[in-house]
Amino acid sequence: MSKKVEAQMKSAIQPCPKAIVSVTDRGGRDNALAVGYCCNCSYDPPMVMVGIVPSRFSYEMIKEAGCFVVNLPGKEGKALFDYTGSVSGRNADKFKEFGIQSTRASRINAPILTDCPVNIECVIVDSIRTGSHEMFVGRIECVHADEGLTDEKGQINFEKASLL
Ligand SMILES: Cc1cc2nc3c(=O)[nH]c(=O)nc-3n(C[C@H](O)[C@H](O)[C@H](O)COP(=O)(O)O)c2cc1C
Repeated sequence: MSKKVEAQMKSAIQPCPKAIVSVTDRGGRDNALAVGYCCNCSYDPPMVMVGIVPSRFSYEMIKEAGCFVVNLPGKEGKALFDYTGSVSGRNADKFKEFGIQSTRASRINAPILTDCPVNIECVIVDSIRTGSHEMFVGRIECVHADEGLTDEKGQINFEKASLL
């Protein structure tokens, strides 16, 4: 049995998922940010939760829009993930500057990042200010997956998706 030492408490559960949350504000402006605080929080009804720090430019956008898309990048999406996680929409139009490819979501007003193999459309049904983050609980309205990734039941083959 190995000896235990006390370790740092911050973001204690690792590895964090790598998601990109995309949003459109009331004025029609699109933005996207990298998010590690992201998890399933109910399967009936299907819901996920994303944690956004209030100082992020996306925070007010998400709050006022009341909806968002969780995009799961593939391994080839590392540059996109790093970019959306290091540049703020306050200083740049990330879609224009990086050339982020997108289409409109089908159930909500938000962009879907088409270069990400999985995209989850959500409507915010609750939020909890936990501390550094506000956790937005999103009821899933639709999940999109790249063709060839799903079986006959619509189940996504995550090994094939080769997520980041
Ligand atoms: C690996 C990684 C994980 C991140 N996780 C989160 C997160 O869970 N919540 C959050 O608010 N910001 C997170 N960030 C930081 C934002 O993505 C970053 O500050 C971004 O530039 C904010 O963009 P915005 O100001 O346009 O909203 C993360 C960044 C990285 C690189």
